[in-house]
Amino acid sequence: MSFRKIFTPHLGDPNCHTLEFYEKTGGYEGARKALRDWEPDALIDEVKASSLRGRGGAGFPTGVKWGFVPKQTDKLKYLAVNADESEPGTFKDRVLMERMPHQLIEGIIISCWAVGIHSAYIYIRGEYVHAYQRLVAACAEAYDKGILGSKVLGHDFHLDITVHRGAGAYICGEETGMLTSLEGERGQPKLKPPFPAIEGLFGCPTVVNNVETISNLPYIMEIGAEGYKKIGPESSPGPKLYCVSGHVEKPGTYELPMGVNLLELINDHCGGVWKGRKLKAVIPGGSSAHVLSADECDVAMDIESLAAAGSMLGSAGVIVMDDQTCMVNALLNVMKFYHHESCGQCTPCREGTGWLEKIVHRIAYGHGKLEDLDRIDTVCDRMVGKTICVLADAAAFPAWSFTQKFRDEFIHCIEHGGSPEVKRRHPDRIGGGLHV
Ligand SMILES: Cc1cc2nc3c(=O)[nH]c(=O)nc-3n(C[C@H](O)[C@H](O)[C@H](O)COP(=O)(O)O)c2cc1C
Ligand code: SF4
Repeated sequence: MSFRKIFTPHLGDPNCHTLEFYEKTGGYEGARKALRDWEPDALIDEVKASSLRGRGGAGFPTGVKWGFVPKQTDKLKYLAVNADESEPGTFKDRVLMERMPHQLIEGIIISCWAVGIHSAYIYIRGEYVHAYQRLVAACAEAYDKGILGSKVLGHDFHLDITVHRGAGAYICGEETGMLTSLEGERGQPKLKPPFPAIEGLFGCPTVVNNVETISNLPYIMEIGAEGYKKIGPESSPGPKLYCVSGHVEKPGTYELPMGVNLLELINDHCGGVWKGRKLKAVIPGGSSAHVLSADECDVAMDIESLAAAGSMLGSAGVIVMDDQTCMVNALLNVMKFYHHESCGQCTPCREGTGWLEKIVHRIAYGHGKLEDLDRIDTVCDRMVGKTICVLADAAAFPAWSFTQKFRDEFIHCIEHGGSPEVKRRHPDRIGGGLHV
C-alpha cells in the first residue's frame, strides 16, 4: 500500500485547526462510523487487530490496554490524554494540538465509545499556551455543534472533555504522576500495580494514551485494521511523526511510515547534516534513549529495530549531532535535565541523578579523574530498575551509552583539562565547577 499522510497534508493551510476545514476534509466521519456501525467490544478488537502501539514512549498495544478496563463496574471510567510532552527533543504532540485539534477530539470520541467512557481529560504541558488555546477553542466549537456533550454527533452517547494545564514538570508526563497531578496533588508517580486501567484517576479505571496515539484512531476507522497494518512493519505499523532537531539543514516534524531508515530521514528528508559536516551521533527517541554512534545509524525507526540496535524509538525525538559536537558537554546538558526533573521520592534517583550531573560536570570543567568513568557505571547500575518510575533509568541510559561509545573523548577531557566546548564558551570557569 502506498503511504498516505494523515496528519500533515493540510498543515500548511492557515485554517487547518478549524471545525469547518476539518469537516470539509472528511473530519468526524471516523467517529460517525464508530458510533453508527461498531459495537464497543468489536471496536476494541479492531484496534487490537490494527496493532496500533502507543506513541508516548513505551509502545504498549493500545487495544490491549483498552481491554484491561473492567466492563462491569459501578465506578466511573476516564480517559486521560497525555499531552505533557516534556521529553527533550520531542514536539510532535504540540504540532498536532496546534494544527489538528479536531483530529484529537475525534480520536477521543472513538476511544471513549469503545471503552464506555463519558469523561475525558487532556493534560497539557503548561508551557504549550498556543496549543492549549487551540484545544479549548476546538472543544468549544465541538460543543456548539453537538459533536461533544449530551448527544455526541446525534447519538445516544454523552461525552465531556476537560482541558487541564500542567505546571511544567517533566514527571507529570509519567502516567501515574499525571493522574496524581490531575487529582490536585503534587505530581509524583505511584508504584504499579495497580495499573491505571484498573485503579487510575480518583481511584477509577482510567485509560491513559498519548495525543498521537489517539489521533491515529480516525484513520484506523477510515481504512480498517487490515489497511492500517500494511503501513510499516507488521509488529508496530502506522504513520509516525518524527521530531528532528539538532545539526540538520531542515529540522522539523516529519510524517513518514513507521520504520523509515534513520539515515534516509536525516539525509533525504531533513537535508542532511548541516554546514556540510559529518554525522557523529544521534539520539533516536528523546533524551532518555541510548545514543547511537554514526556507524549505528543505518537502522529502521521502529520499536523492534531500535531495540535490537540497543536503543529505543521512545517518543521519536531524533537529536542529530555533527562531528564538532562535544559529547561530554552534550551529556552534561542531559544530566542537568534529569537531576532537575527527578521528583525526589526514590533515593537511587534523587541521589543518583545528582551524582551523575556532578561527575560529568567535573569532567567537563577540568577536574575529572579516570576513575570517574567507572564511578558513572556504578551509579547507573544502582539506579536502573530500582525505583518507582523509570526516570532513573532514563537518566542512566544516556550516561552509560555516552561514556561507553565515546569513551576516548571523555578520557581526552579528563587528561586535557576539560571539555573544548566549555573552554570555548566559559574560559573563565574552566578548572572551577562542582567538586565531588
Ligand atoms: C518520566 C516519564 C515521562 C513521560 N512523559 C510522557 C509524555 O510527556 N507524554 C506521553 O504521552 N507519555 C509520557 N510518558 C509515558 C507515559 O507514562 C505513558 O506510558 C503513556 O502516556 C501511555 O500512552 P500511550 O500508550 O498512548 O503511549 C512518560 C513516562 C515517563 C516514565
Ligand atoms: S524514579 Fe525518580 S522521578 Fe520516578 S518516582 Fe522515583 S524519584 Fe520520582
